[in-house]
Amino acid sequence: MSYIRLVNVTKRFGNVTAVDNLNLEIGKGECFSMLGPSGCGKTTTLRMVAGFEDLSDGEVWVGDRLLSSPKKHHYTPPENRNFGMVFQAFAVWPHMSVYENVAFPLRLRKLPAAEIEQRTKDALTATNLLKSANESPASLSGGGKQRVALARALAINPDVMLLDEPLSSLDPHLREEMRFEIKDLQRKYGFSIIYVTHDQSEAMALSDRILVMKLGVMQQIDSPLDVYNNPANKFVFSFIGVSSFTDVVWQSGAACIKGDNRPLPQGLVVPARMQGEAVFNLASRPTEIRFTNENDINAVRGVVMRKAFLGEIIDYLVKIGDQEVRVQIGRRDPGPETGEVCYLHFLRPFWYKVDE
Ligand SMILES: Nc1ncnc2c1ncn2[C@@H]1O[C@H](COP(=O)(O)OP(=O)(O)OP(=O)(O)O)[C@@H](O)[C@H]1O
Ligand SMILES: [Mg+2]
Repeated sequence: MSYIRLVNVTKRFGNVTAVDNLNLEIGKGECFSMLGPSGCGKTTTLRMVAGFEDLSDGEVWVGDRLLSSPKKHHYTPPENRNFGMVFQAFAVWPHMSVYENVAFPLRLRKLPAAEIEQRTKDALTATNLLKSANESPASLSGGGKQRVALARALAINPDVMLLDEPLSSLDPHLREEMRFEIKDLQRKYGFSIIYVTHDQSEAMALSDRILVMKLGVMQQIDSPLDVYNNPANKFVFSFIGVSSFTDVVWQSGAACIKGDNRPLPQGLVVPARMQGEAVFNLASRPTEIRFTNENDINAVRGVVMRKAFLGEIIDYLVKIGDQEVRVQIGRRDPGPETGEVCYLHFLRPFWYKVDE
């Protein structure tokens, strides 16, 4: 059931189209993440939903309320949208106590004193801050300050939480802890989340669905697993997770890895749409390649250039012709040594044209 709706949303800054005709629907209580390289339009999208940025075109809806529409000359200001917001820099007010930081937006809304107290205490309890209520946020750790920002957003009892890299200034351990806290708060309060992050594992862990953007244009909207397993295109494949691209060429009618004169094995079937391509890519994830033996119908011969032990996994660089392929296996799995000839089985090959 759709709750937040973006219809043909477009934002231009001069000649730059920061967001290009974006259509999406987010459900009530859904956690929705936006991923994409720097400058692809994530913050701009979030700011348009929040009401801090005008739209050049399109409409933003929540439920049956129209929030923004330049064509209809309609615009609901941020304070009437009931959205909680947490941005990357902890925008906490250092001259106010933790308690006042949370209560202040409620005072601005002129809520009755008893309700302000109740909501502030609830939000401080939910974020584990009640004991620090009278302290200055300046005395808190990064995670503590981030909690204050979260508590302040929670206290207004938002319909939607807009989170723009809210955890990026925290250390990895704290970040992991906070992401589960956000999820717990969502379960408890039932708000929808639109989450922007550079951290893919964060997006995977938190989200019901992920939007992948490139230069303002939607590339794919899917569950984390589907974005990973069934990427819509070459960009999504290379952007999400770790990937290896190998150039393949045709030699006397047989597909060979560039610089190698052995045809690809029988088990590795090149799709027909690559027939006319002088060079094309065999793409794979390092964890979806296995070492095999010479007699396997999937075996592609290579030489181990580098073997690195990375803790849980062993990371290999294997040279085939003049191409290099990354392979990752479990630390307990048997594998060849540097300098040895090896045979690779591409378990899940993807095929892409060079310029697609
Ligand atoms: N106020 C502005 N004036 C002019 N151009 C802007 C403005 N805000 C954003 N842009 C441009 O819009 C595009 C999208 O920017 P945006 O900040 O939305 O990217 P982002 O995906 O959030 O990037 P990052 O991951 O670095 O935060 C960029 O090309 C940016 O330079
Ligand atoms: Mg941004």
